[in-house]
Amino acid sequence: MTQTQEPAVFDQSTVDRASAIVARYPVARSALLPMLHLVQSVEGHVSQAGIAFCADRLDLTAAEVSAVATFYTMYKRRPCGEHLVSVCTNTLCAALGGDAIYAKLREHLGSDGKPLGHEETAGEPGEPGSITLEHAECLAACDLAPVLQVNYEFYDNQTPEGALELVKSLQAGEKPDPTRGAPLTDFRQAELQLAGFFEGRGADLDGPSAAPETVRGAAIAADRGWTAPAQPDHAEFPALPEKK
Ligand code: FES
Repeated sequence: MTQTQEPAVFDQSTVDRASAIVARYPVARSALLPMLHLVQSVEGHVSQAGIAFCADRLDLTAAEVSAVATFYTMYKRRPCGEHLVSVCTNTLCAALGGDAIYAKLREHLGSDGKPLGHEETAGEPGEPGSITLEHAECLAACDLAPVLQVNYEFYDNQTPEGALELVKSLQAGEKPDPTRGAPLTDFRQAELQLAGFFEGRGADLDGPSAAPETVRGAAIAADRGWTAPAQPDHAEFPALPEKK
């Protein structure tokens, strides 16, 4: 590992957490994804300082870290607000109102007659009540469409009016309970959890993870004694050709 001047933004507790993340893996570079969440928990995005911090600890180049950070949409290049609101505008949600929800929130959060854009923030990033808005690809909750997430917690079966009320509540400092999952926190705290640090919130994370709609098929099958067909023996599959 090369030693560089530590940017002041990453204090000793972040350095200690980074060491704990690296220790989880047999090879340091494997720790990159949680490390990027860790730097987002401090800065609200992945800055150049965050890229250097990861590269320094993982024996990677800044270009390698940057390539990963810019590939995944969960890593943000600009500072996020207190809350990140992700509206699903993929096909099913869009058809059932996702596009209308996104348009409503863009209009509400915009200023000077200009709707807020994708990954733009209303308010001062990181300050109470600030909101970053984004449209998202399928959030894997199509049975509950249209959905949105706040800091990756689900709000199911939304309407434009309901989503607007939700965002107004967030701006007012409230934290309405998600439809399922853990109680709402803020973007940076959620990022710390994604890095694997729960800071006494362990019990809070025991919320319901599945909606009744999601498990209805499994419940009907259990009720009727249906089971999935047995998997064929491995012996029934042709052997893979040997590597040359
Ligand atoms: S299309 Fe929105 S959750 Fe799948």
